Amino acid sequence: MKAKNCLIFGGTGQIGTSLIRKLVKNNYKVTVVTRNLHQKGNFVKTQANAGYIDIVEANPFDEEVLNKLFQKADICINLVGILYESGKNNTFKNIHTNFPDVLSKLANLHNLEQFIHVSALGIDEAETSVYAKSKVEGEKKIKENFPRALILRPSIVYSVDDNFTTLFMTLINRLPIFPIYYNGATKFMPIHCSDLTDIIQHSIEKEINSKIVQCVGPETLTFKELVQTLMNLIDKKRLLIPMPLFFAKIIASAMEILPKPLLTRDQLNLLNFDNISSGSYDTNSSIGVPSKKLFSEEVKKYCYMWRDGGQFSTERYESSE
Ligand SMILES: NC(=O)c1ccc[n+]([C@@H]2O[C@H](COP(=O)([O-])OP(=O)(O)OC[C@H]3O[C@@H](n4cnc5c(N)ncnc54)[C@H](OP(=O)(O)O)[C@@H]3O)[C@@H](O)[C@H]2O)c1
Repeated sequence: MKAKNCLIFGGTGQIGTSLIRKLVKNNYKVTVVTRNLHQKGNFVKTQANAGYIDIVEANPFDEEVLNKLFQKADICINLVGILYESGKNNTFKNIHTNFPDVLSKLANLHNLEQFIHVSALGIDEAETSVYAKSKVEGEKKIKENFPRALILRPSIVYSVDDNFTTLFMTLINRLPIFPIYYNGATKFMPIHCSDLTDIIQHSIEKEINSKIVQCVGPETLTFKELVQTLMNLIDKKRLLIPMPLFFAKIIASAMEILPKPLLTRDQLNLLNFDNISSGSYDTNSSIGVPSKKLFSEEVKKYCYMWRDGGQFSTERYESSE
């Protein structure tokens, strides 16, 4: 059977690279569009056997280039997303609303078999967040342009390549105290990146369309429990300080001037809302792909480099005497 061509936007990120590895192993060809081939090309190339991957450098808003790419595609997967705005073009509206609008119109024009869009969990509820609103608007555009689209809404996604557990473990290591917001009570259902990419692969194989699917892990953990789990895994004791909101907002607005802010006011707004399945949509379990990986067990596999002693702190190096 002819290998199907999956056109992937945002394929160089955490979820994208895991997805590429799974798709090419299962005889799909992938075309990955990146803004910077020089920076990301070498690494992404190693995720697939030769002949299974094409990497194209393009301005993601250049419709002429996109049009050509869509001519050869069977399936389009959109993984492009940002956590903070930077500059004139990298706005939530542009990236989360206008870009999916352009892609889903092209998917319709070229009569693609599937359009899979990764959105985010909890966006219906988080009305005060510009990030969430832009994701909701993006989903609306997609449903208008390509009604058969599959929209996946994951809770927080973690793995050794994430920007969450790895960043938090670095901060716990370096800071004498750790700030928590809203008393650390916000709930999450963290999903391992590999479980999420299993859901995408399953949806392609079973041709699951015309749905919103909430993608969640098997446990519900509060923000405080997540931080405490990470502290235990790396053997660090830190005081968790509940940060008053007005003070957190001042810190966040100061951080917004950094090129990669650790916290923004919009993220603070988002953190006020639970990030758990709502019961109003399908979930990964209801479409036949329940997540099994447990947060502490998975992070334990890669957290040792944040512990004193690094790899020598693992059981592998323990003396048998
Ligand atoms: N990670 C999570 O916890 C989580 C949770 C819920 C939802 N999601 C959603 O899942 C999707 C993928 O997440 P991820 O963790 O894999 O993200 P990621 O690691 O940050 O990767 C996103 C990719 O998007 C591309 N990108 C970033 N900014 C862009 C811009 N301004 N214009 C065009 N392309 C841009 C980048 O590719 P190039 O640099 O190669 O162009 C990047 O590799 C996103 O939509 C995100 O919102 C993630």
